[in-house]
Amino acid sequence: MMKIGDRTVNLAEGDGSFAGGLVIEGGRRLEGEIKVQGAKNSSLPVLAAAYLCGGESVIHNCPALSDCYAACRILSSLGCRCKREGSTVIVDSGGTEGFSVSESLMSKMRSSIVFLGAILGRTGRCRLSFPGGCELGPRPIDLHLDALRRLGVRIIEDHGVLDCTSGERPFHIDITLSLPSVGATENIMLYCALGEGETVIYNAAREPEIADLAEYLNRCGACIRGHSSSTIVINGVKSLHGCSFGVMPDRIAAATYMGACAATGGELVLSGVSSKDMYSCMSVFSEMGCGVYPYLDKLYISAKKPLRSVRTIRTTPYPGFPTDCQPIVMAVLCRASGTSMIVENIFENRFMAAPELLKMGADIKLEGRVAVIEGVRQLLGARVRAKDLRAGAALTVAALGAQGTSVVSNLHFIDRGYESIETVLSSVGASIKRV
Ligand code: UD1
Repeated sequence: MMKIGDRTVNLAEGDGSFAGGLVIEGGRRLEGEIKVQGAKNSSLPVLAAAYLCGGESVIHNCPALSDCYAACRILSSLGCRCKREGSTVIVDSGGTEGFSVSESLMSKMRSSIVFLGAILGRTGRCRLSFPGGCELGPRPIDLHLDALRRLGVRIIEDHGVLDCTSGERPFHIDITLSLPSVGATENIMLYCALGEGETVIYNAAREPEIADLAEYLNRCGACIRGHSSSTIVINGVKSLHGCSFGVMPDRIAAATYMGACAATGGELVLSGVSSKDMYSCMSVFSEMGCGVYPYLDKLYISAKKPLRSVRTIRTTPYPGFPTDCQPIVMAVLCRASGTSMIVENIFENRFMAAPELLKMGADIKLEGRVAVIEGVRQLLGARVRAKDLRAGAALTVAALGAQGTSVVSNLHFIDRGYESIETVLSSVGASIKRV
């Protein structure tokens, strides 16, 4: 059992998600300090990697999110022992050779696909179905599969099930990704970390979470170089082992709390953050008129001045502006004087918050991948529905700054990425409760 906010969850049975909604009384300035959670997008591949490495891994700063529970359930189904003590997850993956993940577990989240590289790397065999997750438009895994095929893996696709068997891995292989996919980069790293041969990934994703995964694997005995750059070199090793590792801070959660601060004219200190990973977001909030000051592992933000519109924001792979922060910034820009424009280049369906923001009185026009936001003086509380994880966070941010009461439903999406969001926001003065 464990406590999340004022709720107790059974790690073995619960999935950490809670149906229902958030009731938010808007218009309260947020003030105080928030300790930012560990990164979801790093925890998930690291948990998968704990299977690859074998032995016992002690993973600190692993947030209590429904996605992390889902990853632990996959690990348990593979025969690992997995337990949570506060924000630490201990995975013992010794002595198991499980290679199959059920469709019901795979369908919980898109990132379950990283188990493919991890399982295949360890056992030489993997059977799983196509992953689920937020509906952000088509989210194919062709790059993952093409790369694995080039690495000698035989893949049979049958009615949504992938049956993969390792073959002879080339002694040296260069893999150039046609786009820097985060998941594909992770899967190649996971598959190639153990075994023989040198793999070079060109046009690799440079997201900080990739570097975090490489750090974890290296600590487990892997030989990976160049992570953080677009050329990653993986030299396979004969064996890996467990280790103790601290997951990096969640830059998207940090940006969400920056958004909540900006939307309420507040003043926050975010602690346990890595500002160097957040420059593109920080500069957008500065341009809106917020004071943004990083200092060591803290980030101070104040929004005392009225918000201004910003120059066109274009989502791009890291180090560009992150697609995950786009809906959150959109919610803030709804009340920034002037016209702002956002071009979404990564996912097709990532404007899911926009129609809901209109219900709150926002002025947003969508044209394909472009959103034009005309700042309005005030948003009004409304009943709105989260249609994906970051859209849910965006609506929460908008509701905090709106006049009157809002209800944000479909809370299970928000629980995928935010650890007890209502507890965190209440602690800095928000009127927010889970119903
Ligand atoms: C990861 C993040 C997600 C973030 C995204 C982009 C995790 C758990 N999730 O998702 O929060 O929004 O990176 O920063 O880390 N694509 C293909 N073929 C493929 C793979 C991807 O066409 O085989 C396309 C996707 O449809 C998308 C783009 O490439 O348009 C980026 O996807 P990718 O970087 O793979 O994102 P994810 O790893 O799914």
